[in-house]
Amino acid sequence: MRLSSAAVAAGYRLSTYDTLPSTNAQALVVARNGSPLVLGIGDNEMFFASDPAALVRHTTSVVHLDDGEIAAVHADGYETRTLEGTATIKTPSTIPWKDEAFDKGEFTHYMRKEIAEQPEAVRRTLSGRLDARFQTTHLGGLSLAARDLLDVRRVKILGCGAAYIASAVGAHLIETLARIPAHAEAASEFRNRNAVVERDTLYIAVSQSGETFDTLAAVQEIKRKGGRIMGIINVVGSTIARECGRGIYLHAGPEVAVVSTKTFTCSAVALALLAIHLGRLRDLSVANGARLIRALQVLPDHIAAILEREPEIARLAEAFVGTEHAFYVGRAAGYAIAAEGALKLKEVSYLHAEAYPASELKHGPLALISPQTPTVIVLPSDDLFAKNISTVEEIKARGGPVIAITHPGEVPTAFDRSFEIPALEPELDPLLLNIPLQLLAYHVALQRGTNIDQPRNLAKSVTVE
Ligand code: F6R
Repeated sequence: MRLSSAAVAAGYRLSTYDTLPSTNAQALVVARNGSPLVLGIGDNEMFFASDPAALVRHTTSVVHLDDGEIAAVHADGYETRTLEGTATIKTPSTIPWKDEAFDKGEFTHYMRKEIAEQPEAVRRTLSGRLDARFQTTHLGGLSLAARDLLDVRRVKILGCGAAYIASAVGAHLIETLARIPAHAEAASEFRNRNAVVERDTLYIAVSQSGETFDTLAAVQEIKRKGGRIMGIINVVGSTIARECGRGIYLHAGPEVAVVSTKTFTCSAVALALLAIHLGRLRDLSVANGARLIRALQVLPDHIAAILEREPEIARLAEAFVGTEHAFYVGRAAGYAIAAEGALKLKEVSYLHAEAYPASELKHGPLALISPQTPTVIVLPSDDLFAKNISTVEEIKARGGPVIAITHPGEVPTAFDRSFEIPALEPELDPLLLNIPLQLLAYHVALQRGTNIDQPRNLAKSVTVE
């Protein structure tokens, strides 16, 4: 019997009361070949699916098949073997999610619900990991001793889409706080270019699902070349998490909307925890460690306060009525946040949104600025503020509308629209500047009447090449 891929994605059930459709067989044989496959163990019934989220309604006890593994699934059990026929021993794991977590509740869209869940999700990412006594962070899943971490000379962070952009935020944090050269790269590009893998580099794979094919392939390439890899992953027991064998779980809860919101924020928070950890092993002072720990402790409350001002952000969305193109700009970590804002807008509203480093605007894209092309600028009151203001003036001189996501304070020039958030700590401000941009994308999409939770042409887990 063949099952359609849709049936497998939605989850398939086999119980003692079933006769299998179109056969009298008592077992189904399933095999994993590239894409994920999970068995769910029920009470006298078994399930299988490509995503554990499809099983939570029925069981939280699951077995992840490895690539090339085959399972004979009966109503009351299963046996697994390698392709060559050798029996394998699997230990079931528990999905740490409750069925209610998949309920939309009072929200019309999962995207909006998951944006609203961020204060709690971030609290869970931080939980048990802040060490106020030594002004550092505890990352038990790293399984790397302080001595090993001191040997790290470079950090390379890999992910795709929003995970890649969270990696860029993380690279800024690691370079700033730990003074270790750190770079982010799209995992999909890394695996295409026969990359040099170095023994004193710490490689980090970032993935919400833990199943993204390109990220998995990059991890396997790094391992094959002897590199040291860790994961920053949301789905416990997922393929990339198991392949990395060490890392930081986000504990953000299930993310159902195709676009990442809470897992983007939690990935950046996890990378901030790592940056503080690496920094405190080096030159990050006690005072700076304590300052950042205090800021992380109040981060969830600050996110909640921004979310309460949603009607103001909904009004910003009016700037996009009648436009088909938008720019998002920022400098340094602000550019990464601009990139995430543009990604969210294009994914859910289908508007063409392009992110550019603010410093590069005058090297080309300024030619496209017009009264019909709004520019969103990520404008923290940091040491790049004056340079960012000169970018605003260049845009305004060409008649381009400017929407600023900024901090309170005197500005020498007027914006067309702005949204001010309180400044937290300069290193961590990017995490907060991102929140209004998520809501902005959501409200532009609402106005345009798009399918917000399932944008056209996109899938939640990209498990194929
Ligand atoms: C963006 C988005 C995608 C994913 C990307 C990686 O909103 O959802 O770009 O970020 O497909 O997915 P994960 O994090 O599961 O590896």
